[in-house]
Amino acid sequence: AALPVAAAAGCSTTESHHRPRFASAPPSGKRPLPIPPPAKSTVTDDGTRRFDLDIRAGATEIVAGVKTPTWGYSGAILGPTLRARHGETVAVRVRNSLGEVTSVHWHGMHLPAIFDGGPHQPIMPGGTWTPTWTVKQPAATLWYHPHAHGTTQRHAFRGLAGLFIIDDDNPVSRELPHDYGVDDVPLIVQDKKFTPNGNLDERDDPSAGLLGSTVTTNGIADTYLDVTTERVRLRVLNGSTVRFYNLGFDDDSEFEMIAGDGGLLEEPTRLRRLRLTPGERAEIIVTMRPGLTRILRAYPFEDNNGIRPSQPAANFGLADTFDIVLLRAANTLKPRPAPPAALAHIPPIDTNGAATRTFLFGQVSINGATMDMQRIDVRTVVDTPEIWAVTNGVNGVHNFHVHDTRFRVIDIDGQAPPPELAGWKDTVNVRPFSTVRLAVRFSDYTDARWPYMYHCHLMYHEDYGMMGQFLVLRPGEKPDSVIGQGGGS
Ligand code: C2O
Ligand code: CU
Repeated sequence: AALPVAAAAGCSTTESHHRPRFASAPPSGKRPLPIPPPAKSTVTDDGTRRFDLDIRAGATEIVAGVKTPTWGYSGAILGPTLRARHGETVAVRVRNSLGEVTSVHWHGMHLPAIFDGGPHQPIMPGGTWTPTWTVKQPAATLWYHPHAHGTTQRHAFRGLAGLFIIDDDNPVSRELPHDYGVDDVPLIVQDKKFTPNGNLDERDDPSAGLLGSTVTTNGIADTYLDVTTERVRLRVLNGSTVRFYNLGFDDDSEFEMIAGDGGLLEEPTRLRRLRLTPGERAEIIVTMRPGLTRILRAYPFEDNNGIRPSQPAANFGLADTFDIVLLRAANTLKPRPAPPAALAHIPPIDTNGAATRTFLFGQVSINGATMDMQRIDVRTVVDTPEIWAVTNGVNGVHNFHVHDTRFRVIDIDGQAPPPELAGWKDTVNVRPFSTVRLAVRFSDYTDARWPYMYHCHLMYHEDYGMMGQFLVLRPGEKPDSVIGQGGGS
């Protein structure tokens, strides 16, 4: 018998409405891929590049023909792409025009803890917050998103996310596609689910949180991109709240990954599949031929990401297939050279004699504890490399993100990381019962009062407290007895 209409439309109160009802979406690509606009900025006399962001409510046709209430930065959904150069001082005036507290975290940015935008820097309704810092890191695709205590998942799901691109003087950048929105295209990949009347369905699946059955790219579903160059660079962000993606092309063609979370790899690496967990980024170069169409698709995880059979991997969305974007090459393509064989020099972090800290994941805990805003979990000393050994102790999906820094993966269960994880990272998958060892170092900024965060970036877990706080101290410095709180006015 056919499902009642209401259930088919997704309002069933049973478990099933949380799951995608189809194994594979048709290769439609009906609307042009929206490109997040470049953020306007002004440079003041002191050389500071100034941006304005307004966090507000709006409505978006995520699915064609259905207006869905959404939130965005200076727009109805997502946000403009901020862009600054290594060495530049930036200031962002953020206004909160929502009716509730939020915050803006600069994911992947190396900056003072007081401007980090985590749970200790809430922006009150109607308030403004103006963090300022000097960019001290190489070219990379970073992003910004909400990070207020306990509401990160819901706020991000409503549409709050944007990119922050850093440029530098590495001459390689001129040889890579760099015409924003033309041959250098951001892809913010997120999943959504809806109520029958077209609102976002914000009910957590108890095992997976806000796992959606509609995948969106740059804010909308079913997109195509007209490609006019032989090669196109895609800056892919997994901006989803909890979903993992196993990306590849429908014709199984190879592509070249040139950058990870924290910037360029040492050399391009050829891949057919690329896994991105929430918060991770990758830049890839795709080679097209005149007239070719090709679909960037998310594939099932053949190995269930290491989930053992006692748990259905489908619970975590690991068995789903989705189309991310349809690439349509024009009949004549402008030439673009292959990426240079040497992209960047990535000096190792010297961990000789470094101390090891261990982090053990439970269902939603780290070392048996959940987030306490008043508890400092880790005290580190500036410029002192450490090894962070992160173990997932449960049969579930988790990853690990550290604020302020870029780390290197030393090994995964004793094996050297694959090339796609060998560069600068700030977020990394930690498969069930495996241990990822990271070389971590914090530099430049110390603060005895304001902590940074480390956490699982599955926002459902983060909101449940799978997060800890660390201070970066000067040698011999004692932490303050009071933890900082506040920032927005
Ligand atoms: Cu993107 Cu603390 O997160
Ligand atoms: Cu987790």
